[in-house]
Amino acid sequence: MLEGQLLLGNLVAELDGVVVGTAFLKQLQTHDMSRPVTRITALVVDEKHRGTGIGRRLIEAAEMWARERGSTDLVLSTARENHLAAKAFYEHCGFRCTGYRMNKPLN
Ligand SMILES: CC(C)(COP(=O)(O)OP(=O)(O)OC[C@H]1O[C@@H](n2cnc3c(N)ncnc32)[C@H](O)[C@@H]1OP(=O)(O)O)[C@@H](O)C(=O)NCCC(=O)NCCS
Repeated sequence: MLEGQLLLGNLVAELDGVVVGTAFLKQLQTHDMSRPVTRITALVVDEKHRGTGIGRRLIEAAEMWARERGSTDLVLSTARENHLAAKAFYEHCGFRCTGYRMNKPLN
């Protein structure tokens, strides 16, 4: 197993006691990294509350979670179906594309 020091996190945004958004985080460090990074594995805001700043606040909370645990970067990849909207949102929040994701289905 290449991954060491695996840490998982779940952030929740609440409005009047109701969950309106969530982010799942995974801090990982592989053999080629001197320090860990934190991956956002899922981020979703309730449809009725989108566009009100909750997504950005979840990203800010993810940054704090990652920094406190010694991560050098926040990283993520987005699925093809919501790629364009999600990309625009993440760019707005300071993320930049640094490579391509490649995939080979194993049938
Ligand atoms: C992507 C998502 C998390 C954004 O959350 P949100 O709460 O609507 O975003 P915010 O209101 O915090 O927006 C933050 C900033 O990004 C901008 N933004 C949000 N969505 C955007 C979009 N589709 N295109 C361009 N900019 C966008 C906002 O204008 C805002 O800018 P500002 O801070 O300068 O005012 C939400 O739309 C969602 O849950 N989508 C479905 C799931 C998804 O795609 N998840 C991400 C991929 S895993």
